[in-house]
Amino acid sequence: MENQKITLGTRKVSIEFPGVKALSDCDFEISTGTIHAVMGANGAGKSTLMKVLAGSNPGYTGEVLYNGEPVEVRTPMAAKNLGVQIVYQEVDMALVPSLSVAENVMFNDTVMNVKGKLFMNYTKLRREAREVLKRLNVDIDVRRPCASLSLAQKQMVLIARAIQNTCNFLILDEPTAPLSDTETEELFQVVRHLRETENIAIIFITHRIQEVLRICDSYTVMRNGEIVDTTPITPATTSKEIVDKMLGRSFDESFPKEVCDIGEKSFVVEHLTEREGRVKDVSLYVRKGEIVGLAGLVGGGKTELCKTLFGAFKKSGGTITLNGNELKIGNPSDAVKQGLSLVPEERRKEGVLVAETVTFNCAAACLSKFCRLSFVNDRKAAQNAEQFVKDLSIKTPSVRQRVANLSGGNQQKVVVAKWLAADADVYIFDEPTKGVDVGAKQEIFHLINEIAKAGNCVIYATCENSELLSITDRMYVMFDGQVMAELETAKTSEDEIMHYATGATTPFVAAG
Ligand SMILES: Nc1ncnc2c1ncn2[C@@H]1O[C@H](COP(=O)(O)OP(=O)(O)OP(=O)(O)O)[C@@H](O)[C@H]1O
Ligand SMILES: [Mg+2]
Repeated sequence: MENQKITLGTRKVSIEFPGVKALSDCDFEISTGTIHAVMGANGAGKSTLMKVLAGSNPGYTGEVLYNGEPVEVRTPMAAKNLGVQIVYQEVDMALVPSLSVAENVMFNDTVMNVKGKLFMNYTKLRREAREVLKRLNVDIDVRRPCASLSLAQKQMVLIARAIQNTCNFLILDEPTAPLSDTETEELFQVVRHLRETENIAIIFITHRIQEVLRICDSYTVMRNGEIVDTTPITPATTSKEIVDKMLGRSFDESFPKEVCDIGEKSFVVEHLTEREGRVKDVSLYVRKGEIVGLAGLVGGGKTELCKTLFGAFKKSGGTITLNGNELKIGNPSDAVKQGLSLVPEERRKEGVLVAETVTFNCAAACLSKFCRLSFVNDRKAAQNAEQFVKDLSIKTPSVRQRVANLSGGNQQKVVVAKWLAADADVYIFDEPTKGVDVGAKQEIFHLINEIAKAGNCVIYATCENSELLSITDRMYVMFDGQVMAELETAKTSEDEIMHYATGATTPFVAAG
């Protein structure tokens, strides 16, 4: 059979949650053999629309269309029967870490179809899993337990599971957010390969517009639950036109550094070493009012350094002083008491209490501010939350909404708000803009600048070099748990950062 074109779409699909019209009258369509991006600000409705297609939002009104014909997709099974597969961002939740790669790839056979079968044929299972991975062109030992895989490999296992079943439409919800550049590149190869060899449609959600321009054939922009536009991507498509459509206004992506007075050395770290060797002999300092970057690739040791500073990892040597006083930090709670705050990288695991409200989360890092005689002053806490909802444009029907009901990016903003509210002297941010849309990113940058202007110390860790170049004053480049170089932002370049981030010990020489 020739590559037959199949389409999947929606006609006038709407969905309402208490207080939120998440989708209104969405008309959407994709066809097999293409890579299609779905873009939009945080809370625009991207994930909700995808969940409709994947059968996990049964409460929609309107119609889902398969080859133009209305179909009912009110259960994940109904969607799978139409060949619609989805890989959510939280890959860990979908995998069974203790089981092998083979068992996870062949999950449906292992768990779903065990009826009547007493024994599992492991040889067959492994062979089949190997064949599926081969279709993706990836090489992972199928006997390894999934717990030992990198994030990117875990994603591959889930994609393999998806295509092991009938798969015409593969939905990837923010797959690249946690990946390094190389891993992203590998994912793109797999995705292209699937389009070419298996005629699959890939729906790709991301906040990184450059990725869309590079790999997608067409894109849809959503705003406030509506579909704004669907267009092919041509060499003439620009990042600016996409952003303008997303935000509904003309938007300048560049972020000028706000000037602020830099004072004396305040936060000083000397010869810091982590017990398991994840941080090696790191020395750095931050002056009052200064924003200091931690640069480096994914896995270079930035997160490990942040966690060691914050007491979440145990230090085995070195000293940390604040304004001349040595800090004794045995755990995160000590760190908070001594004036440190950390916006962690993995928001859902460590950053927010998803079962609690926006108000509670925004107050959680500084409850004493809102307590009198062990009663929380609800009104004061609510006012604090309202302010952050405004400053960071957190999309929520009210501050009483449970965080679990917010979109991914808006949950991230709540984590940032929680730690911005803390009365700290040193603020550490570990990839705070991951999964956050371009508009919100600027708002976060602005608040970080405000913190610095108030005379605090800021440490900003990210692998996005463009962010470092726009908001920091100085930066340390890490590789393998060590600091390779200290650079002045105004005098450095992306090339110089990359030179040290890849482990070079020789001085950088600019090309040309
Ligand atoms: N189960 C739910 N209950 C209440 N509101 C919800 C629920 N699921 C989603 N919403 C709301 O629907 C809107 C759209 O959310 P959605 O997750 O689709 O956004 P998104 O475009 O994926 O954003 P992001 O880029 O932040 O992931 C948001 O306002 C969100 O708070
Ligand atoms: Mg989402």
